[in-house]
Amino acid sequence: MKNIIIFDTTLRDGEQAAGTTLNREEKLEIAHQLEKLGVDVIEAGFPVSSPGDFEAVKLISSQIKNASVCGLARANEKDIDRAWEAVKDGANPRIHLFISASHVQMAHQLHKSPEEVLGLARSMVAHAARYTSNVEFSPMDASRAEPEFIFSMLEAVINAGATTVNIPDTVGYAMPEEFGGFISSIFEHVANIHKAVVSVHCHNDLGLAVANSLAAVKAGAGQVECTVNGIGERAGNASLEEVVMAISTRQDLYDVHTSIHTEQIYRTSRLVSEITGFQVQPNKAIVGINAFRHQSGIHQDGVIKMPKTYEIIDPQKVGVPSSSLVMGKLSGRHAFKERLAELGYNLGEEDLARAFTAFKELADKKKQVTDRDIESLLADEKRVYGGGYHLEKVQVTCGAGIPTAAIVLKCPDGEIKGDAALGSGPVDAVYKAINRIVSVPNRLTEFTVKSVTEGIDAIGEVLIRIESEGVSYTGRGADTDIITASAKAYMNALNRLMAEANLAKETVRCGQR
Ligand code: KIV
Ligand code: ZN
Repeated sequence: MKNIIIFDTTLRDGEQAAGTTLNREEKLEIAHQLEKLGVDVIEAGFPVSSPGDFEAVKLISSQIKNASVCGLARANEKDIDRAWEAVKDGANPRIHLFISASHVQMAHQLHKSPEEVLGLARSMVAHAARYTSNVEFSPMDASRAEPEFIFSMLEAVINAGATTVNIPDTVGYAMPEEFGGFISSIFEHVANIHKAVVSVHCHNDLGLAVANSLAAVKAGAGQVECTVNGIGERAGNASLEEVVMAISTRQDLYDVHTSIHTEQIYRTSRLVSEITGFQVQPNKAIVGINAFRHQSGIHQDGVIKMPKTYEIIDPQKVGVPSSSLVMGKLSGRHAFKERLAELGYNLGEEDLARAFTAFKELADKKKQVTDRDIESLLADEKRVYGGGYHLEKVQVTCGAGIPTAAIVLKCPDGEIKGDAALGSGPVDAVYKAINRIVSVPNRLTEFTVKSVTEGIDAIGEVLIRIESEGVSYTGRGADTDIITASAKAYMNALNRLMAEANLAKETVRCGQR
């Protein structure tokens, strides 16, 4: 069976999603998880866009051994040289270069004629091919370009050394039948197409990115570009988990396979959501919290009798943890460690000891500790002990009087500081008290609370976004007390802001000149 190359661009196109910036360590952590997931190519960034992104791509290339690491470049020598410099030490480095190919973009953005664009594409692919044979070329906005122009461009770049030619539906304009037909026509009209892998890169503006990618696979495409949770520019990209699970679930229709370890899908989705701060919508296919929940009595009855009655995918196949009762306050350290291992966490002794203490505290407050609770608790531990300021104590009084908060923080140098403030509500008072100690100007732009599981004693997860000098930072916190969760989320966002302050990025993004 033919293998479909899964090209993950969460760290490049995914990072272009409005409202997120990832630092070097965050990108590296996601890259390691993508390697575990089994993706074939990791597009780690756009190295020329900023010194920070260059460093991130370089670091990822030096550590990832089981996937090709790719850097994006515009069709000019400086971008290509910088991309190569960032990826060259990787296991199987790739340069991905692109240039606009639709009339509207060539005329109004590039101000170049089709002949000039074709010449640049050819000469810049040849430039990249001097470094490596692993060169990918993308005619941007291909789905709105003249098909004949795309055919001649592909033929020219393949002759110049491109080994992957990627067809982007940059603005998510294509319809599945039309896009599949376009891919078929490429196989018919480009004489040397057998010398390259045909790839597709679909955006989701009309909600069709996955459908278009699958239509392309049917038509013979050998690589799909996608992102975890479908994040990306505007409405996002084709969602990796949906493409992979559609291919795997409908083997009767798609005579192809992927090398993805599907049981890592859920963890990867959670990690990306956690780090980017983009919550996954409850009804999102494969990884949404409701994706395997059955509400109607008839469905529940069917699933109890035989899961296949209403489930087309076994939740375990994508690594979804069960929400049934697993542990309680009498559970011992050994059982806890085993449960963690079953969930895919292998903690060192120190982290395990801390996690176990946190688990015991939770089990005292909450009788039924589920896998989802454990997952939330571990994510919170990682944030809390990730460096920076640490929340020691928080206390609020509110109700009919004036909301007041008292805070105690441990500073990065170990000093303990306390302060108090009044606010319009308890969360406002907590944030003001923290501000009196930390004093970093910022603006709160988003605040959301959700519960991890059902029940009055459920853990509450708070997600916030703060903005400073035009850059947005996310923070999360989890606790059975939502005021404490809010304080933790704010500390988490402030710690990220302060860590980034010295690494301010120039934001030359894909498509900007
Ligand atoms: O959407 C797009 O066209 C892109 C290219 C850089 C491949 O992201
Ligand atoms: Zn894109």
